[in-house]
Amino acid sequence: MKIAIAGGTGTVGRHVVRAAENRGHDVVVLSRKKGVDVMEGTGLDSALEGVDSVVDVLNLTTLSTKKAVSFFTATTRNLLTSAARVGVSHHVALSVVGIDSIDTSYYAGKLAQERLVLAASVPHTIARASQFHEFAQQIASQTTVGPVTVVPRTLTRPVAASDVGSHLIDVVESGASGRARDLIGPQNATLADMVRRMYAHDGTSRRVLDIRFPGSYGAGLASGALRGDEGSARIAGLSFDDWLGSPDRQR
Ligand SMILES: NC(=O)c1ccc[n+]([C@@H]2O[C@H](COP(=O)([O-])OP(=O)(O)OC[C@H]3O[C@@H](n4cnc5c(N)ncnc54)[C@H](OP(=O)(O)O)[C@@H]3O)[C@@H](O)[C@H]2O)c1
Repeated sequence: MKIAIAGGTGTVGRHVVRAAENRGHDVVVLSRKKGVDVMEGTGLDSALEGVDSVVDVLNLTTLSTKKAVSFFTATTRNLLTSAARVGVSHHVALSVVGIDSIDTSYYAGKLAQERLVLAASVPHTIARASQFHEFAQQIASQTTVGPVTVVPRTLTRPVAASDVGSHLIDVVESGASGRARDLIGPQNATLADMVRRMYAHDGTSRRVLDIRFPGSYGAGLASGALRGDEGSARIAGLSFDDWLGSPDRQR
């Protein structure tokens, strides 16, 4: 199968590419570094020529509702329009577990993306995953000032990006189903605890402050909704502590 991976150079994208290649699929990576700007739509039709399935793992890091909605709406519309034009038979979008009642900030963009995909004429599947183990690294790189890292209070159920990558290729191979089972990790954690364990593992001496973010976004992060439902979700294998020392981890 020929699979286009939008965002294939990113944190989870590179694992999606690896999983697809390991299973013998042809892969096309869509990213600005590869000459395709999905936000602008430039070069999309020719990049999708002959493609059977698209996996959308694009991302913009922002807490602004306006920027998130604008990015995920424009990129999703452009992908779906080109996909319909060239006859792509399956569009898979990666979203986030448990965000239904957190329609603000970054998650407003993800919910806007999901609504567009669900209304699309192109056969589609929304696949949700919980926060990546890599999220501890991503957040710490953004919220560290000197010897202190400030972490928003977040109850999560982290999963390795490598497990998400192979799950997404399972979803592609299963064909369009509208909505895949949620993918969550093997254990509950708080984001602050993940950052502390990462620092302990790496020998980094830094204080981690677990601060509840204000407003409905902060309430959503702290509510436990992002952990998903253990009874119905698919549960991935690699734990956070095993991931810390694994070759999957990129620093
Ligand atoms: N992080 C988490 O814990 C988590 C949990 C669940 C779901 N997700 C979802 O996973 C997805 C990917 O997240 P990530 O953390 O892996 O992202 P990331 O590391 O920030 O990577 C983003 C990717 O998008 C590409 N990109 C950005 N703007 C683009 C544009 N205008 N045109 C073409 N490519 C563009 C980037 O490549 P270039 O810079 O080369 O353009 C890069 O490949 C997101 O949809 C996110 O909601 C994340």
